[in-house]
Amino acid sequence: MPDAVVRFGDDELNLPAHVGTQGDYAIDISALRGALGIVTLDRGFANTAEGRSSVSFIDGEEGVLLYRGYPIEQLAEQARFLEVAYLLQYGELPTKSELEQYEESITRHTLLREDMKHLFEAFPHSAHPMQILASATSALATYYPDALNPLDPEAVDISCRRLVAKAPTMVAWSYKYRTHQPYVYPANDLGYSENFLRMMFAVPAEDYVVDPVVATTLNLLLVLHADHGQNCSSSAVRLVGSGHANIFSSVAAGIHALSGPLHGGANQEVLEMLEWIVAEGLDLDTVVRKAKDRNDPFRLMGFGHRVYKNFDPRARILKKAAADVLHALGVDDPLLDLAMRLEEVALSDDYFVERKLYPNVDFYSGIIYRAMGFPIDMFTVLFAMGRLPGWISQFRELLADPETRIFRPRQLYIGSPVRDFVAMDER
Ligand code: SDX
Repeated sequence: MPDAVVRFGDDELNLPAHVGTQGDYAIDISALRGALGIVTLDRGFANTAEGRSSVSFIDGEEGVLLYRGYPIEQLAEQARFLEVAYLLQYGELPTKSELEQYEESITRHTLLREDMKHLFEAFPHSAHPMQILASATSALATYYPDALNPLDPEAVDISCRRLVAKAPTMVAWSYKYRTHQPYVYPANDLGYSENFLRMMFAVPAEDYVVDPVVATTLNLLLVLHADHGQNCSSSAVRLVGSGHANIFSSVAAGIHALSGPLHGGANQEVLEMLEWIVAEGLDLDTVVRKAKDRNDPFRLMGFGHRVYKNFDPRARILKKAAADVLHALGVDDPLLDLAMRLEEVALSDDYFVERKLYPNVDFYSGIIYRAMGFPIDMFTVLFAMGRLPGWISQFRELLADPETRIFRPRQLYIGSPVRDFVAMDER
């Protein structure tokens, strides 16, 4: 393995190279500042790995995504969400009995403490669901003070089960509160997706029958969003966890990071963008021209990715699923056709081709969520529900790694040189 050599002035330093399982390389710069007195500058950490991880692998050039080595296409086709949640956390696909035990343990923790209703009811009915979910997730830490130690594997394990189990209830109850409807309690005889759909859409006045197409589609969406390496929100979870904050606080930080329109909030932005295009009667050439104009803040939401310089494999799966699901549900949404035409126009334009900007996971997901009956402002909490196993897997991996250090990046200071305080009457 060739070392890297850094020459700075008259000094020279050999830096060891490491190779990952899939042939990716990293140069270890841990000795850099001590030997040469310099640090690296890398905006957005586009060229920087904080550490090693075994959870997911992304090949951005080839459009490949693996969860613990399994291709996303195979998991999307064959795996249940809790099966994937188990795989991401424990590293192996569960046996039948392991999965049954895991599902049973999740079922046993779906209830919220009754007084959490006061938390939901403290919010205005117009509150965004991501703000409520982040607050409720933080609040969970106050109910389980005996299971907060991030260095205690048993405490972390039960907290992870509580998070996976209670997220659907928290999301559904926040929806029921915001829509002035009675809360629907979890039903222990239902599967994960079915239970969530019933808590979301059932009303006491009549029986609710889960549509199997909607349940299967929700499972697919949750699986596709389950993990994605060191993305913005997972990095937030790791950063907060590196200070030995508890997992509820760390995941709440991830939820806030995901809410940003450049990250998970993009799925809501895509739908609003498509509706805006229709409302303004814009032709697609004008839309693409605006997206390319550096003086125009408009961006093609759901397009582009820091890592994928090819089709996001999840977007490929969702593009096909969108047509199938809308047909199965008898939904005719003109926005799907508009999205497909917009993709076609953009991908035939040199600006997008040269910058390798392709549809990402958020481009088609919102059209499917809406066809399933979810309001637009819930799309990002649905992303969060899917990403939860990824966040907790990244947290567990970081806290279990003996080489983990608290995240504390350096900076290049460009502020004022040292100067003396000036008394008020001399300013
Ligand atoms: C997610 O990291 C992950 O894995 C995230 C995620 C996950 O599963 O966790 O995959 C989920 O967050 C997907 C991304 C959702 N966000 C969007 O769809 C928002 C729109 N996309 C962009 O804002 C942007 O593409 C980002 C934020 C996704 C990536 O930003 P980068 O890597 O910092 O790229 P950049 O902004 O430097 O763009 C490079 C060039 C720039 O042009 P030039 O300076 O070269 O002239 O491409 C242009 C950008 O202006 N560009 C776009 C564009 N995205 C990038 N131009 C128009 N429309 C876009 N969408």
